[in-house]
Amino acid sequence: MRTKLIAGNWKMNNDLNESKVLIAKLAKSLKDLELNCEVVICPPYTSLSESATAIVGTKIKLGAQNLHQEESGAYTGEVSAKMLLSTGCEYVIIGHSERRTIFKENDELINKKIDRALKNNLKPIFCVGELLEERENNITEKVIESQVLGGLNGFSENELADLIIAYEPVWAIGTGKTATPEQAEDVHKFIRDLLEKRFSKEFAEKLLILYGGSVKPENSKELLSQKNIDGALVGGACLKAESFVGIIQSA
Ligand code: PGA
Repeated sequence: MRTKLIAGNWKMNNDLNESKVLIAKLAKSLKDLELNCEVVICPPYTSLSESATAIVGTKIKLGAQNLHQEESGAYTGEVSAKMLLSTGCEYVIIGHSERRTIFKENDELINKKIDRALKNNLKPIFCVGELLEERENNITEKVIESQVLGGLNGFSENELADLIIAYEPVWAIGTGKTATPEQAEDVHKFIRDLLEKRFSKEFAEKLLILYGGSVKPENSKELLSQKNIDGALVGGACLKAESFVGIIQSA
C-alpha cells in the first residue's frame, strides 16, 4: 500500500510574514482532520527556516523547490543540499518544468541534482512532463521515457529508495487545463511499467508517482482515485489554505 502525498509548490510566492500566516491557517485546518496522506509544503528558500519552526507539532512536512548539484563552493546565489537539510527540509523538488524551460536544466543536470539530494538524505520529488506540441505529435511516452531514464541514469534501485516522481504535463501547469484522469493514469502507468523494466516490480510498486498541473479541490478526488496516482504536486491552489486543505481532504 502506498501512502498518498500532497505537496504544495509555493514557487516565488509568499514573503516571510505571508509564509507564517499561510502555515498557521493550514495547521489550524489540518489539526482536527484524520489524514490518510502526507502533507508537504515547499516554500521559497527565504522562508524555509521560519517555516520549519512554524510546522513543529503539526502534520506538515517541509521541502525546497530546488538545490545546487555541487556540495559547496564558489556558486554565487546558489543553495546546497546541506543548507536545505540544516533548515529542516526533508524533500526537494528537482527538475520542475519551470527549471527545465526558463533555467535550461537538462536531464544530465537533473541527474546530478538527484544524486546530490540523495547523498544528503533529502527525498527528491523528481518532475517530468511533456509539452503540448509533444502530446499533439503523439510522442508523450517517448519524452517521458527519456526524461525518467535520463534523470535516473546510473542509479541502483537501493539508492533510489526515497525517490518520488511527479508527472506534470507542461500544458497543464498554471493554465487551468488539467489532464483528464484517464490521460494522467495512462502516463502514470507507463512510468510505473518503465521502472519495473528498468529496476524491479517491487521497486515500481513502492514508488510514489504524483500528478501535477492545475490540481484543485474540484478535480483532485477523481485524479487521486486513479490506481497509479499516488498524490499531487499543487501550484496555484496551494497558496490558499482552503483550497490546499480541500485537495488534502480528497486524498
Ligand atoms: P499548478 O502548478 O497547480 O499551478 O498548475 C503545478 C506545479 O507547477 O507544480
